[in-house]
Amino acid sequence: MSWHILGAGSLGCLWAARLAAQQHCVHLILRNAKALARYQQTPGVGLSDAQRQHTTYYPIRAQLAPDPQPIQHLLLACKAYDAQAAIAQVAHRLTRDSQVILLQNGLGSQQVIQQLLPNTRCLAASSTEGAYLAEPFHSVFAGQGQVWLGDLDSSAQPPPEALLEQCTAASIPCVWTSDILTQLWRKLAINCAINPLTVIYNCQNGELSRYSTQINALCDELQLLLCRSGQPEAAQGLQHLVWSVIEKTAANSSSMRQDVLHQRRTEISYITGFACTQSLQLRGDTPILHALQTQLQEVLQAQGLPTI
Ligand SMILES: NC(=O)c1ccc[n+]([C@@H]2O[C@H](COP(=O)([O-])OP(=O)(O)OC[C@H]3O[C@@H](n4cnc5c(N)ncnc54)[C@H](OP(=O)(O)O)[C@@H]3O)[C@@H](O)[C@H]2O)c1
Repeated sequence: MSWHILGAGSLGCLWAARLAAQQHCVHLILRNAKALARYQQTPGVGLSDAQRQHTTYYPIRAQLAPDPQPIQHLLLACKAYDAQAAIAQVAHRLTRDSQVILLQNGLGSQQVIQQLLPNTRCLAASSTEGAYLAEPFHSVFAGQGQVWLGDLDSSAQPPPEALLEQCTAASIPCVWTSDILTQLWRKLAINCAINPLTVIYNCQNGELSRYSTQINALCDELQLLLCRSGQPEAAQGLQHLVWSVIEKTAANSSSMRQDVLHQRRTEISYITGFACTQSLQLRGDTPILHALQTQLQEVLQAQGLPTI
């Protein structure tokens, strides 16, 4: 099976290395000629274990978006705010049989892409794996997890067995779900309850226990919003789930806080931004959520970071 990975960052390199280790034909699609030249100076995609004791380099081929080669399997591994522009660059290379996996966090970018590609099977992913880049094209596999995969378009198709088998054989822990939206909404709500507050209070997840009244009230609002959005399953036990994530990840910094600490653009528009827009559209009553979004934007602005 042939794979193209668009977005050679932390997760893109993690997937590329594991697929290449299984002798699959893998190609990176890089942003521009400068990135390609830079990649060609490296021994290939590097993958290290969490302790960085072992690193293996995979001499994966790389190309640019205008390459004429058709794409069979595409892993879109860029940030949510880059997803639409990135897919537009390669849309002409997709065929009726192509399958696209969308790795983006939050909600909103997946729906835009499915609209852009009405005839392509788009699988959304919800990943709890953790990785970061030690240097360009060298990913460190920091946290084992799971990858939920499912069709964005609800028209029932049989699961893509060959793709799932390949992922499993490559030690990519994919689990198929016929209801990926529930997973995505649940993760969105958890991210809304945790990530902005870790930025606003500049703290690790565990320190959020000091703000339990605010978090519980926010969870109540989010729970109602999920129900109004037709996601009652994702709403179930939200508060309990949020506290269990806070407890299990007490020593971690949320992805949004890490972005801010590294002076990187956040995915705010696809997390709290998406939830606020959804609430406005449904005329929901979510004053705490909106106040949180405003406060978060103020912090981002003060740090000189984009507020969308
Ligand atoms: N890392 C994790 O542990 C993790 C865990 C769960 C979910 N996620 C989600 O997975 C997604 C990817 O995260 P990540 O951490 O892997 O991001 P990342 O390290 O920032 O990698 C994204 C890569 O995409 C590239 N890119 C963007 N637009 C492109 C284009 N048009 N053509 C070619 N390359 C392009 C970027 O290139 P430039 O550097 O040139 O911009 C960058 O190399 C995010 O939505 C994130 O929230 C990540």
